[in-house]
Amino acid sequence: MNIEKLREKFSELYSKKGSVYASPGRINLIGEHTDYNGGFVLPGAVDKGIVAEIRFNSTDKVRAHALDLNESSEFGLNETDAPKEGWAKYIFGVCREMIKRGAKLQGFDTVFSGDVPLGAGMSSSAALESTYAFALNDMLSLGFEKMELAKIGQATEHNYVGVKCGIMDQFASIFGKAGHLMRLDCRSFEYEYVPFDPESNGYKVVLVDTCVKHELVGSPYNRRRESCERAVNAIRKRHPEVEFLRDAKMEWLEEVIGEITTEDYIRAEYAIGEVARLLAACEALSKNDYETVGRKMYGTHIGMSVLYDVSCKELDFVNEIAKECGVTGSRVMGGGFGGCTINVVPIDKYDAFIETVKAGYKAAFGIDCQIYPVVISDGARKLC
Ligand code: GLA
Repeated sequence: MNIEKLREKFSELYSKKGSVYASPGRINLIGEHTDYNGGFVLPGAVDKGIVAEIRFNSTDKVRAHALDLNESSEFGLNETDAPKEGWAKYIFGVCREMIKRGAKLQGFDTVFSGDVPLGAGMSSSAALESTYAFALNDMLSLGFEKMELAKIGQATEHNYVGVKCGIMDQFASIFGKAGHLMRLDCRSFEYEYVPFDPESNGYKVVLVDTCVKHELVGSPYNRRRESCERAVNAIRKRHPEVEFLRDAKMEWLEEVIGEITTEDYIRAEYAIGEVARLLAACEALSKNDYETVGRKMYGTHIGMSVLYDVSCKELDFVNEIAKECGVTGSRVMGGGFGGCTINVVPIDKYDAFIETVKAGYKAAFGIDCQIYPVVISDGARKLC
């Protein structure tokens, strides 16, 4: 991240120096669309994210500048003072969610910049929310626990962006730890850090970005969630102990097959399967059994493509090439509808895979895919 340019812009706009904070994007090894189903996820923070310089300005206004877009926005802290710019709504939402939880905020000046690719399924928006939630909490000593900061980011998505997301992305951005994945129980919010050292075990982890921009704002993501909720409601009538799909057995879904639509049925089938796949993958990872982890990842891809219908032809193509190149595990990562695949690649097959996928993708779609080697890094922090 180019902090020098950020700082230059900040002093050019506001003639002062502020504090600098950063929050990362994330990967998720397995466990997709499980968070809002009360299941588990296995994310890790990456070495790409958002960085922001911030200084209180003794007014009740926020003056924000998005360096990469070269756009500015000014807004207040009251509900009626929302900004017009889409990107500024994330900052405004974080402020509002903090105020709703009792925080006394003040106006501030800020410039932010990022190197986490937008719309690639690496949670650029969670990185933006987490940066401001973490920074304001720290600078004003607001006393929010880290988990509450993640929930503030999630509530921003729900109430100010319109995406009814789960907690995974904001959690990963706030709690990330270098060299570790995090196994989070999205019902109890209990988590553990899982050491993740694929290279010592003969593998590299790499993202292949199809550069097909995914867009979670709008209905498709929320519709998946609604399907799962309808399936849960049907199952709960017979099995009142079922709070989320995470609690449901596949046989219980079969019992309600005639009571829900085919679409809701196959979405729920995916989600129940994915909760189980994650648990099996975690068990395998604890034994450094990457072959099993990889097979589960391919299983997730098929589920996300065929049952959950959140893949696209470009992602399926990249997944197919991975299989042909002997990649151990490969699947669409994040919400889907475009973005990246995550790939666990044997080190001796790495170079050939990268060459083949780049050339094959260009030949098939006429555009370049992007390759991001995964470096698992720390979560939200103050830089200076
Ligand atoms: C998006 C959401 C997350 C999660 C993933 C899919 O990234 O923000 O909460 O649901 O999709 O696993």
